[in-house]
Amino acid sequence: MRDIASIAQYAHHVLKEAEIVGLPRRYRGKVRDNYDLPDGRRILITTDRISAFDRPLAAIPFKGQVLTQTARYWFEQTADICPNHVLAYPDPNVVVGRRLDILPVEIVVRGYLAGTTSTSILTRYQRGEREMYGHRLPDGLRAHERLAEAIITPTTKAADGGHDEPLSEAAILEQGLLTAEQWRTVSETALALFARGQALAAERGLILADTKYEFGTDADGRIVLADEIHTPDSSRYWFAESYPERLGAGTAPESFDKDYVRNWVVARCDPYRDPIPDIPPEVVLGAASVYIRAYETITQETFVLPDPAEVPLERIRRNLATYLDDGTAERRN
Ligand SMILES: Nc1ncnc2c1ncn2[C@@H]1O[C@H](COP(=O)(O)OP(=O)(O)O)[C@@H](O)[C@H]1O
Ligand SMILES: [Mg+2]
Repeated sequence: MRDIASIAQYAHHVLKEAEIVGLPRRYRGKVRDNYDLPDGRRILITTDRISAFDRPLAAIPFKGQVLTQTARYWFEQTADICPNHVLAYPDPNVVVGRRLDILPVEIVVRGYLAGTTSTSILTRYQRGEREMYGHRLPDGLRAHERLAEAIITPTTKAADGGHDEPLSEAAILEQGLLTAEQWRTVSETALALFARGQALAAERGLILADTKYEFGTDADGRIVLADEIHTPDSSRYWFAESYPERLGAGTAPESFDKDYVRNWVVARCDPYRDPIPDIPPEVVLGAASVYIRAYETITQETFVLPDPAEVPLERIRRNLATYLDDGTAERRN
């Protein structure tokens, strides 16, 4: 793990926006800037944006690279389970995928009673609910306890900035969001991916507590894994070593502190009402070092620091130009 002093020179080495002049059909998501090429490829550029409280908070050095490279690791580790959208990685922050029709359901898989948002199973359980997402949870579970088996708690995939709404298998089929065959495929696949994720995480001393998958269909109607997989943004990881003690004490399990920035903000203002103060460099760098640590722990690979003299967006533009030019050259030959 890098200490803050050793990455201090990267404090402003961030990718906030990835506007690439000349690429068509930009969709600016919360985290990624996406472009759809006419030939059916989708370019997904993962920026360093971090959002919370329904608004952008800051840009964290390396976050986009960590997400892209963590997803790459997991796409490779799970390619035998299901096909994924990946075509190429022209830059550390960029994946080129096959553009899919994304299914309107986000497949959230949970192995533990956890979560902090109003739709999470822990919040609902603590409010006294037992029936949720089409499952019935037993009485007497402790916060953060392992569930008897992993469950799928599907939500709608909200369009632009909306909130995801809870679903269930019955609701998905009744509303015709997925066909019975599609539901069977995505639910079986998601549970298999999650089991693989948990098994590999366990070898690294980690618990993969929950995660979210997005699937799409290709031109032949085949179901393909899209977006990202088992990244710190889409997943909750805990440290296995301290888990039993934390569970016993009733305190939250130890995790890569994804909420590093969020906690700093909450301690200083009401983020839903007040203007958010500027996040100081040591907090930004602290968060950056947590992302590096997450990448290295999850993948057991060393994080390759980018060249500090290079502006990330310029590097990405150059790498994409080379990637796209090569393709044109190949087609000409
Ligand atoms: N292969 C793909 N084809 C089409 N859309 C995709 C593919 N992979 C991911 N997406 C979509 O691209 C977007 C990625 O950008 P992101 O910042 O995550 O957006 P959002 O704020 O909508 O989550 C998401 O809307 C995701 O559903
Ligand atoms: Mg997203």
